[in-house]
This record gives sequence, C-alpha cells and structure tokens, in this order.
Amino acid sequence: MGRLQDKVIVVTGSASGFGRGMAIAFAAEGAKLVISDVHEKPNTGGFETDSGLTTVEAIEMAGGQAIYVQADVTKSAEVANLIAKTVEAYGRLDVMVNNAGVYRNGKKLHEFSEEDLDFCFDVNAKGTFFGAQEAVKQFLAQGDGGNIINLVSTAGLQGHPNQSVYNISKGAQANLTRCLAIEYGQDKIRVNGICPTYAKTSLTRALFDDKDFDQVFTDSIPLKRWGEVDDIANLAVFLASDESTYIHGDLIKVDGGETLCRYSV
Ligand SMILES: NC(=O)c1ccc[n+]([C@@H]2O[C@H](COP(=O)([O-])OP(=O)(O)OC[C@H]3O[C@@H](n4cnc5c(N)ncnc54)[C@H](O)[C@@H]3O)[C@@H](O)[C@H]2O)c1
Repeated sequence: MGRLQDKVIVVTGSASGFGRGMAIAFAAEGAKLVISDVHEKPNTGGFETDSGLTTVEAIEMAGGQAIYVQADVTKSAEVANLIAKTVEAYGRLDVMVNNAGVYRNGKKLHEFSEEDLDFCFDVNAKGTFFGAQEAVKQFLAQGDGGNIINLVSTAGLQGHPNQSVYNISKGAQANLTRCLAIEYGQDKIRVNGICPTYAKTSLTRALFDDKDFDQVFTDSIPLKRWGEVDDIANLAVFLASDESTYIHGDLIKVDGGETLCRYSV
C-alpha cells in the first residue's frame, strides 16, 4: 500500500515542472491522477529528464494510473469541467492541487503593463480561486472532507524587487489559503500552501542561465543551492497524505533558508 493509495488527485499545470513532479510522486504512492494543463506536452527549456513523454505517459510507464483533462484555470467553466471529468473517471475527488502558474519579472512597478498584471493575476490568483471553488463544491457534495494544496511562493510572503505583478498575485494566493482554511475547516476540508523559493523549472530557466543571477542567488541561500522539483514533490506527498491531518492553513516554506536572513554567509 502506498502513502496515497487510491486517493483521487487533480494537479493543475501538471504537464511540466512542479506539477509534473508532484503528479509522478503522487502516482508512485498509489494515487489516481488527473493531469491537467493548457497543453499536454511539457514546456520546452525546463529540466525534465524525460521531456519526450507526457506526464500521463511517464506515470503509466512506471505502473501508475492517470488521465489527462485539458483546462485553462483562468476559465471557470473549464475548471468546473475538470472536476466533472475527474468524478466521471474515478467517482470522487480527494485532493486538489492548484499549481498552474506563470511568472513575469524584470521591470519596476511603473514599467509593468496592464497585460503583465492581468497575466499573473488571472492564472495565479483567479486560477487558484476557481480551482478551490470547484473542489470545495465537490468536497461538500461528497460530505467527507477534502484537501486543497496551493502552490504559492516565498514571493507571496515577502516583497521582492522587479516582480511586483508576480508577488501580488502570490500574496493573493497566500491570503486565499488562509481564508479557505478558516471557512472550511469545520467541513474537514484542509487547505495549505507550499512556498518555494526559486527552483529549477522552465519558469526559472532564464534566471538559472544568467550566471550573474545564479551566483548572487545561490550565495544568498543558506543551503547554497537552487530548489529541485523533488524538494517540492516530497512535501506535497506529505500534505496530500493522512500523515498531515492536523496541518491546516499553513504556508510552508521550501526555501533552503532563504527567508531567514537579509544575506547569507
Ligand atoms: N519554479 C520556481 O522557482 C517557483 C517558485 C515558487 C513558486 N512557483 C510556483 O509553482 C507553480 C508551478 O511552477 P513551475 O515552476 O513548475 O512552472 P512551469 O512553467 O514549469 O509549469 C507551469 C505549468 O502551468 C501551466 N499553465 C500555465 N498557465 C496555465 C493555465 N492558464 N491553465 C492551466 N495550466 C497553465 C503551464 O503550461 C506549465 O505546464 C506556479 O504556481 C509557480 O508560480 C515556482
């Protein structure tokens, strides 16, 4: 028996990056996965070792169970359809992972456009809102609780320069996590957020390839390395499992100590 045996788990944005890594880790622990994204193939330029395979193919090759349902999280009707298709395939929903996200950086506030703001807000904040909303409806209909995991960021917990549109969308996700935890704890619906610092995915590829940034960033982290997808997936497995049943409303950092200090030694 795996740690997530037969749990039905939806992961948005799971063609690539954290979503893909979490989905593969969940399936390895016996969960039944719904992979969802705007496209089925992984983003190019990421760090996936098996980028020729879709996430469903990677899970099935390892003996796990998964289906793909296309959904753009900025469209509430598509998110509702995602949950409906999940219930049609597996009969229920146990864990909703609101992971789909996008990033914009490199400008000060007065230089960002309305399109930059909408891009981050629509996917990161609105997408998480719709994902949580549809999951909660299903959990309430099932009547036996539920579990929501939001992929936030240390950017949702503090200010960072030159990425205000991203940080405020992540701040919204962090506060949504708290609001949901208060509203639905009485219904045994657990809600938590994972807050990574920069980790190696297609979202951060340009930063990783910028040797000056890489040096400054790595030096600033007490553990002296970038985050890896597995660092996030390992926590997600714990949060999705019954090993964490009293952890609720938390925003858990996976940041190598980044947020402890102004600068590292
Ligand atoms: N990589 C990091 O350093 C880092 C750090 C902190 C938080 N995060 C957060 O983790 C989450 C995953 O990021 P990642 O690094 O794995 O990025 P990624 O780019 O590798 O993967 C993101 C996935 O989301 C999908 N996606 C984008 N817009 C979508 C939409 N409208 N609907 C459905 N899917 C959509 C993409 O197609 C992609 O497959 C994001 O919420 C991101 O903000 C990432």
